[in-house]
Amino acid sequence: MELFESMKQKIADRNIKIVFPEATDPRILGAVARLYAEELLEPVLIGNKEEIVAAAHDRGLKTERFTIIDPDKFDRWDEMVESFVERRKGKATKEDAEKILKDVNYFGTMLTYMGITDGMVSGIIHSTGETVRPALQIIKTKPGISRTSGAMLMVRGRDQEKYIFSDCGININPNAQELAEIAVDSAKTATLFDIDPKVALLSFSTKGSAKSPEVDKVIEATKLVHEMAPDLKADGELQFDASYVPSVAALKAPNSEVAGQATVFVFPDLQSGNIGYKIAQRFGGFEAIGPILQGLNKPVSDLSRGANEEDVYKLAIITATQTLLD
Ligand SMILES: CC(C)(COP(=O)(O)OP(=O)(O)OC[C@H]1O[C@@H](n2cnc3c(N)ncnc32)[C@H](O)[C@@H]1OP(=O)(O)O)[C@@H](O)C(=O)NCCC(=O)NCCS
Repeated sequence: MELFESMKQKIADRNIKIVFPEATDPRILGAVARLYAEELLEPVLIGNKEEIVAAAHDRGLKTERFTIIDPDKFDRWDEMVESFVERRKGKATKEDAEKILKDVNYFGTMLTYMGITDGMVSGIIHSTGETVRPALQIIKTKPGISRTSGAMLMVRGRDQEKYIFSDCGININPNAQELAEIAVDSAKTATLFDIDPKVALLSFSTKGSAKSPEVDKVIEATKLVHEMAPDLKADGELQFDASYVPSVAALKAPNSEVAGQATVFVFPDLQSGNIGYKIAQRFGGFEAIGPILQGLNKPVSDLSRGANEEDVYKLAIITATQTLLD
């Protein structure tokens, strides 16, 4: 089944509430109108009602039935301030909270933390840091996961060839433990998209062909992955060709159950991950969807500032699907 059709079926009729803090942006409004019309989720818009209605009318959209929450008139404001101060444990006073929560990304993240919404999609006019930092501080990572990371779903062609690449967005130089967590989390993300996870921990070395501290990190991470998820098909260290091309795998890693057939590619650092996905996108003709933030207690997704309405629509569907993960 087509990738997004499968996800739409998973989320339909579940009343999943996704908050959009950048509600006056026409790309957000266009996507929200589609999501609402298709009854895929319940969008919650943050901002001044008159401004949102005016922006929607400019785009020819009706907003009567949208849920709009104006932080200046929010009836649970005091509870939110208190909950924020409690969550930040000595890192913010009540006065700090009153200021910080005026920021729409903090406000939207708190709505999600408080369970008023189930997830958040933002970042079309904010930087990655502005969008993601509130989630790192408030929603935080799941037990056993110390770092959130950003996976890209790479999709190509009519027969929907699909892979996960990670970390392409967050951790600049993960250590072995963090890399192992990224690998395990990426395998979970793969299952969201009906990808059978076979995880390759990538390097410039295959099975000892080169020696360096960078390679040792990947070897150590692979060992930790086996300890953390003994049933997961994972292998490293592998060069990209050994992970993807069966004939190369047969030569370089003949006994591997991942080499030559990997579906989840874990890069050793952010430089290689970010460069790698962009090469696949620009040279390889893959559509790159994400980054999909993984490992958080509740999903928060960071849009690129160059995103269009279709990108918002798709990332919102993915975010809603993530709410179904354990
Ligand atoms: C995501 C990012 C913005 C966080 O930066 P930051 O806010 O400066 O990070 P800090 O170290 O100040 O940490 C802020 C909080 O988030 C937490 N945190 C930071 N990175 C985290 C991660 N990967 N996972 C979980 N928590 C994290 C910190 O523990 C800290 O929590 P605290 O305030 O409760 O102590 C940063 O990692 C970054 O810039 N990454 C690269 C992003 C990028 O440029 N991508 C480009 C390709 S898209």
